[in-house]
Amino acid sequence: MTPDIPPWSVPKGMKEPRALHFETLAVHAATAVDPQTGAVVPPIHLSTTFERAQDGSFPSGYAYTRNDNPNRRALENALAALEGGTEAVAFASGMAATQSVFQALAPGDHVVIPRDSYFGTAKLLQEQFVPWGLEVSIVDMRDLEALQAALRDTTKIVWAETPSNPTISITDLRVVASMAKAAGALLVCDNTWATPYLQRPFELGADVVMHSTTKYLSGHGDAMGGVVVVKEPGEFGATLRAIQGRGGAVPSPFDSWLALRGVRTLPWRMRGHCENAMRVASFLATQAGVERVHYPGLPDDLGHAVAKTQMAAFGGMLSLVVPGGRTGAFAFASRLRLFTRATSLGGPDSLIEHRASVEGEKTRAPEGLLRISVGLEHADDLIADLDQALRD
Ligand SMILES: Cc1ncc(COP(=O)(O)O)c(C=O)c1O
Repeated sequence: MTPDIPPWSVPKGMKEPRALHFETLAVHAATAVDPQTGAVVPPIHLSTTFERAQDGSFPSGYAYTRNDNPNRRALENALAALEGGTEAVAFASGMAATQSVFQALAPGDHVVIPRDSYFGTAKLLQEQFVPWGLEVSIVDMRDLEALQAALRDTTKIVWAETPSNPTISITDLRVVASMAKAAGALLVCDNTWATPYLQRPFELGADVVMHSTTKYLSGHGDAMGGVVVVKEPGEFGATLRAIQGRGGAVPSPFDSWLALRGVRTLPWRMRGHCENAMRVASFLATQAGVERVHYPGLPDDLGHAVAKTQMAAFGGMLSLVVPGGRTGAFAFASRLRLFTRATSLGGPDSLIEHRASVEGEKTRAPEGLLRISVGLEHADDLIADLDQALRD
């Protein structure tokens, strides 16, 4: 399955005025031959400080790595270009990126987040930002009446995560964007699981996009990071930039370099993840030993119809529910040989995780649910492994 993605224009500020395809942009968005050495792959700039000119200015544009660094800037430029935004602000993790979005608000402001979302997002809000003064409503984003009822005069942000964690549910970004806009709120989309290759939140009405770059963007399970991309220049982006420089929760030059290296192969890796996930989900959906499969690529999945209108393909994440609750789930995961029992996602290795035990007491994940990050192994081998584990 090849995602059918139209070519889009290079955002303003880039040298090349012609429309480039995503694959080309991913390779060229922020890497240029090093003028000093001719190196084709960019060097890593570990220096924390940069020389001033005699008049006190910084001719290179860099002064101190907490505020700016060539590797971080290259990553930010690439991600702004790939999302079609105007500015990207990189952080040390996805959660540091999320945190910066809420730090940009003021006590008394209200935010709406989805019931099904990365559990760290709700935890951060409830345990850190509610005591600080933010007000939070948690709704099922697919229930548009519930969303409408939750919106207030003080709502500043509607947060969407689609596909979501852990039941891979789909939020209709076009509709939610228009509701947020009518309420005077920004729509922020956690686009981590879709990536800009599969889903273009700005074209669907979102104002801000957030990513854990730890996942598909870096793509190899070896770098932590996060980013917030804004669609339009303005106060919100300037506040994020100030939070980045003041607090310094920034990715190291090496992590920035690794993330940028990952970005260059993103579309090709995503094709593999999507193709494998579709095959694995289709196999699981026919198995008597599986109670339920959540994957928006399956025609009878609740999110399928909307996903088809807003995603180029259905992503690499799925979850399944096996009989026997927690014990059944643990036993099934233990029988697998190619799926590693580990958290996280978006790398070449297929990973399987029991979300209820990871999320703890407040989890909403069913006890029999296992989340799978489908990797880049051959789908036949993954299916054979699942098959033997189901039969055992
Ligand atoms: C959808 C989503 N958003 C945010 C995060 C947090 O990212 P990080 O672990 O890089 O802080 C994760 C992590 O799994 C995630 O899956």
